[in-house]
Amino acid sequence: MAPVRALVFDAYGTLFDVHSVIAECEQHFPGRGANLSKQWRVTQLEYTWLRSLMGRYEDFEQVTAGALAHACASLKLTLSDATRAALMNSYLLLTPYSEVPAALDSLAPRKRAILSNGSPRMLDAVVRNAGLSERFDAVLSVDALRIYKPHPSVYQLAVDRLGVPIDEIAFVSSNFWDVSGATSFGFRTFWINRAGNVPDPLGFQPAAVLSGLDQLAGVLSPG
Ligand code: 2OP
Repeated sequence: MAPVRALVFDAYGTLFDVHSVIAECEQHFPGRGANLSKQWRVTQLEYTWLRSLMGRYEDFEQVTAGALAHACASLKLTLSDATRAALMNSYLLLTPYSEVPAALDSLAPRKRAILSNGSPRMLDAVVRNAGLSERFDAVLSVDALRIYKPHPSVYQLAVDRLGVPIDEIAFVSSNFWDVSGATSFGFRTFWINRAGNVPDPLGFQPAAVLSGLDQLAGVLSPG
């Protein structure tokens, strides 16, 4: 098997804890934060798939705002303009999982990149606010293609932009649907399963299942 020369990471849920917005949600809707965060994320992902299937791309910021509005409405929470702005801003301040900075360091000198549904503005902000900018060789957004994961063209973007052969790239995600899409595309994949989730029976399996990013360097042959 070819050595891994580049690692490509999903962003939301893999590097950054999307549910770190719960604290801000709680400020505005006491006792409802966890529920709102969960509904917001599920709806956000659904909208990416619906828009891709319809050929009606809107960027991830618009999708995230639409999902927030729907999540609030479905939970009968009144979303003021000020609350919307505060919650959308919390998406730019997501907390990275605690092991992420050191784990990224341990993977050098291999190339390290993000490949995400996030818009360039959202990704730039969340990476910068987390102090991770120096640890990535590239931050790639689906926005260049105007279609969301798991469309194969998105994974091809990483191959094209990194200039590394497909069999020398490892793709890392905590989202099993994303692992499935990347495996189907042809990437060697690693599933970060921090929460003990059950894999979807879509017919694709990762090369390994890890409980955190800190386990990744140990399962890769020296690169
Ligand atoms: C991503 O960062 C949505 O988690 C997904 O692309």
